[in-house]
Amino acid sequence: MKILVTGGAGYIGSVLSRILLEKGYDLTCLDRFFFGKDSVQEISDRIHLIKDDIRWFKPEILKGVDAVLDLASLSNDPTGELEPQKTMEINYQGRARVAKLSKKNRVTKYVLASTCSVYGFQEGILTEESDLNPLTTYAKANMLAEREILPLANKSFSATVLRQATVYGYSPRMRFDLAINGMVLGFFKNSKIPIMRDGKQWRPFIHAKDTSNAFIKILEADPELVNGQVFNAGNNEQNIQIFNLAKLIAESIDLPFNYEWYGSPDKRSYRVGFSKIKETLNFRPKYTPKEGAKEVFDALKDGRASGDDPRTITVKWYKHLLREHSKEIEINGVIL
Ligand SMILES: NC(=O)c1ccc[n+]([C@@H]2O[C@H](COP(=O)([O-])OP(=O)(O)OC[C@H]3O[C@@H](n4cnc5c(N)ncnc54)[C@H](O)[C@@H]3O)[C@@H](O)[C@H]2O)c1
Repeated sequence: MKILVTGGAGYIGSVLSRILLEKGYDLTCLDRFFFGKDSVQEISDRIHLIKDDIRWFKPEILKGVDAVLDLASLSNDPTGELEPQKTMEINYQGRARVAKLSKKNRVTKYVLASTCSVYGFQEGILTEESDLNPLTTYAKANMLAEREILPLANKSFSATVLRQATVYGYSPRMRFDLAINGMVLGFFKNSKIPIMRDGKQWRPFIHAKDTSNAFIKILEADPELVNGQVFNAGNNEQNIQIFNLAKLIAESIDLPFNYEWYGSPDKRSYRVGFSKIKETLNFRPKYTPKEGAKEVFDALKDGRASGDDPRTITVKWYKHLLREHSKEIEINGVIL
């Protein structure tokens, strides 16, 4: 079975690609490689790498592809606000383009990497049926992409939306701008976990390998179960309050629980229900935040991950790329 993963060199994509290869899939990764190719170097002899953009790649790339897992995007709220128009072009129109071209080119399954942040901050447990309340350009672009892509579903084209919780754990393209990974880095560098005030806010979490397995569950499911459907990807037990999360992290690393507060009290809190994916697809995450935190700490200790790599803070890296890009325009007069 031939699979195309967009954003396959990213934080989740590079973990997902490895699992797909282990399972014997024939894999193509389409990515702009904004964070370089290091994350897929080790598997480059087993994967077809294409440096291209979801906004303008040639549709021929999709010939013979059976399924598309669409992960490419500007991947968090602060990055989404750098140039809101570009966020809409990539995260909304770009991904709608991928889905429409997939359908046109007889791809049979398509999965959109969406986010639980489309719910915004609301009381109660948010399920796939809850109202959406997107509060940022990033969340709005995800909502618009979902709304344009789901109606493409028909008998020969299965389209599914996966709303992922906040991801954690080691990846060959490391991100320290995600809550758990960032706390571990703070602990590693200063022996103190940075906690955003007042620590009572709830957030849902999922390990990078588990969210990858959620994509694969959908990929391998009977289309009747997933076609035209939205699934939250996570685990009811991994809705955690930030202060308690910090305690879990200290326990996992087996060091005294030292912490420091930052920010003004964060009233943004939300909890998500993950029963649908469990009941429909028997999806059960295997990893816990404690295991993920230990894994990230070990990766920092043995040098597989570096807290000084500027690419690990997504928004800072995109800011840098935009600065470089505008210098290039000044010098060469080219608009990319
Ligand atoms: N990491 C999380 O906690 C999380 C949570 C919910 C949803 N998501 C979503 O999952 C997906 C993957 O997230 P991630 O954490 O791996 O992000 P990431 O930034 O590590 O990876 C995104 C990849 O997409 C590529 N890319 C960006 N724009 C592109 C374009 N126009 N054309 C081709 N490639 C492009 C980048 O080069 C990068 O390799 C994203 O859509 C993100 O919004 C992530």
